Amino acid sequence: MVVILLGPPGVGKGTQGARLVDELGWVRIATGDLLRAARREGTELGRKAQEYMDAGDLVPDGLIVALVKEHLAGLGADTGVLFDGFPRTVPQAVALDAMLPELSRKVDGVLLFEAPSDVLFKRISGRRSSPEGRVYNIYFDPPADEGICDVTGSTLVHRADDEPETVERRLAVYEEQTAPLISYYDAAPTRVMRIEGDRPMADVQQAVRQELARQLDLTAGSR
Ligand code: AP5
Repeated sequence: MVVILLGPPGVGKGTQGARLVDELGWVRIATGDLLRAARREGTELGRKAQEYMDAGDLVPDGLIVALVKEHLAGLGADTGVLFDGFPRTVPQAVALDAMLPELSRKVDGVLLFEAPSDVLFKRISGRRSSPEGRVYNIYFDPPADEGICDVTGSTLVHRADDEPETVERRLAVYEEQTAPLISYYDAAPTRVMRIEGDRPMADVQQAVRQELARQLDLTAGSR
């Protein structure tokens, strides 16, 4: 199975995505996390992506599609895949639709998370992230020790692209370039499952579980 998490910055894709793959035993391909890792490692991709990410713009489609192809190719045929932050443009969705049949896969469902922009700003302003991609929130989900990841003990950071001006740009880019994917998937024979993201994390998680079970017959342990 292949499921896509779609929604604006700060809506909770990473938070729910991490919980879902823990439950389902799937692999999560989160392009934002992969790009941040490439930057930390100083790879060519990381260097190329840096200026786009810091400005709140999208990294060019060609770089992203190559990155995803590389990660998909290494997976076993029966491994469930959860895309987080990909596709982000219609050309990326078209490229995904072209590459999946070669791997005997297709997009089975899209979880679309929605929340008002004031909620997104508040969440992003309180977000603290570990280098390994674990996410906390000083208002809603603080770590046990301030500034320290509960799991790895790493120091938590405020992402450079989480400054308010960059968040505004990221939200505008979402509306211009990513929101058209909603009609793209609504028109395809793909299940689009709308999730109200403006609720406590446990309630959102429960809504995700219910939609996946109802629409895709997907429960813990499914592939
Ligand atoms: P990326 O890392 O994908 O960022 P994003 O899509 O903007 O999403 P975020 O990580 O900001 O938010 P999220 O929805 O995951 O929310 P989270 O769970 O953390 O992309 C970064 C950049 O990389 C892009 O701008 C672009 O430059 C580049 N890029 C990545 N993919 C690309 C692609 N495909 N094409 C081109 N460029 C690409 O939650 C946010 C906060 O809220 C956290 O603190 C969390 O604890 C808290 N929270 C979550 N849920 C709740 C809740 N229900 N109640 C209260 N608090 C909550």
